[in-house]
Amino acid sequence: MGHSPDATITGGAKPGLNGAMSKPRKLYVKSYGCQMNVYDSHRMADAMAREGYRETDRPDEADLIILNTCHIRATAAEKVYSELGRLRSLKKKAAADGNPMLIAVAGCVAQAEGAEIVRRAPIVDLVIGPQSIHRLPELVARAGNGKAVVDTEFPVEDKFDHLAPPSNAATRARGIAAFVTVQEGCDKFCTFCVVPYTRGAEVSRPVDKIVAEVGRLADAGVREVTLIGQNVNAYHGQESDGMNSSLAGLLERLARIEGIARLRYTTSHPRDMSEDLIAAHRDLVKLMPNLHLPLQSGSDRVLAAMNRRHGRDDYLSIIERVRRARPDIAISSDFIVGFPGESEEDFAATLDIVERVGFAQAYSFKYSPRPGTPAAILDQVPDAVKIERLARLQALIDAGLRKFNAATIGGTLDVLFEKPGKLDGQLVGRSPYLQPVQVMAPVHLIGTIAPVTILDMGANSLFGELISTLRPQVREPAVLAAAGGA
Ligand code: SAH
Ligand code: SF4
Ligand code: F3S
Repeated sequence: MGHSPDATITGGAKPGLNGAMSKPRKLYVKSYGCQMNVYDSHRMADAMAREGYRETDRPDEADLIILNTCHIRATAAEKVYSELGRLRSLKKKAAADGNPMLIAVAGCVAQAEGAEIVRRAPIVDLVIGPQSIHRLPELVARAGNGKAVVDTEFPVEDKFDHLAPPSNAATRARGIAAFVTVQEGCDKFCTFCVVPYTRGAEVSRPVDKIVAEVGRLADAGVREVTLIGQNVNAYHGQESDGMNSSLAGLLERLARIEGIARLRYTTSHPRDMSEDLIAAHRDLVKLMPNLHLPLQSGSDRVLAAMNRRHGRDDYLSIIERVRRARPDIAISSDFIVGFPGESEEDFAATLDIVERVGFAQAYSFKYSPRPGTPAAILDQVPDAVKIERLARLQALIDAGLRKFNAATIGGTLDVLFEKPGKLDGQLVGRSPYLQPVQVMAPVHLIGTIAPVTILDMGANSLFGELISTLRPQVREPAVLAAAGGA
């Protein structure tokens, strides 16, 4: 405390092994999995910046390497071990050169496997669960003397209360669109899912803390904020008067922050899609017209076995109400194929609902049995069947994505420019519907919203032309005015 965070980044150099002042120590962080991990990675980097560590994108020059891991599917969890395998020779070389390297495993694999990670990969010096990241500096100070440090407790204190706020320098480096964790953990216990075990019980951050953080982001040039949580629409954070705020209430509060032009939130659960949140899509001009609402399966039988606690008709009814509030809204979703017991008929119900809803986008996964979850011990669907179903579902989802993107060609979308594109003179931005849009545009438009005529589409993005570069101005999306009056 008592010094500006920016000063500690440069002023944190410590005497090197040979007694001379060494260069600032370097930190390499690699994030896997969801946006909450990305957010946690930034917070860990901020915390270590205060200890004199500067971030690098080169693992070979790092003094501290953090792998912030994901446990959601077997393929995600196994990535950690292949990465650790690659790091083994780096660590050996660093030690031979007299620059000992610390390797930390953070995130959901750390939480799920704990000390087992060190047994499988002895090069790991530190294992730290997602709810302990505020203790990282202290743990790093203890690590590295031959005995691995493991901290996977669910502490009684809230990590957010102990994490220093992001520094302005760090915020600036992270650009125009930022993510803010507002809710963490999950109490829903879907039978396929590890999140309740790796992230712990559901907790919402208080409203004023979030308002302060978003205010700082706005001051640092951030224009778009996505509120994140495993069940973000279950948000019920405390207001200063002691009452609880819903997600809609929080969005309404954040919409009043000057400089923030766009708000989004993810991931939602159908059970928590309340009427006030649906109404916010009609009333809040800054709330962008997209909704990620995972469905997992279109079959009532499978939904019940997954413990999702809603049926397919409930989902269709939500979509109908959301579309009534905001007719142009882009709906996206997540699906699992090959959940234990999924029959061809169940799967057909999934294909049917995908067609019925007309998703703008969706992610689909083969069911992956996760240790300790109830569905893992049920009779499994053969992998060949999962592969075949996944291909059919993905073909349908891709067709929906192309249809949604094609419908924008010839029209005008408001694009928030985020960064230079691949080609010289090109910028990349996002449409209100989250589509990446590539446009030839001057670099000073980064951070502003401008209307763009959509000319064409590629596999992953749209191509457009600036309507006018003469008077770039921050304005609300044209489509919003239209929908708001409907
Ligand atoms: N909280 C969100 C989901 C978070 S996990 C929700 O309730 O919808 C992100 C996605 O990973 C899930 O929506 C699901 O589609 C997928 N997923 C989770 N566990 C999985 C598993 N065991 N196998 C395959 N996919 C899984
Ligand atoms: Fe996992 Fe279900 Fe919680 Fe989503 S709601 S994080 S799928 S347990
Ligand atoms: Fe993965 Fe943990 Fe996120 S399991 S999806 S990193 S909450």
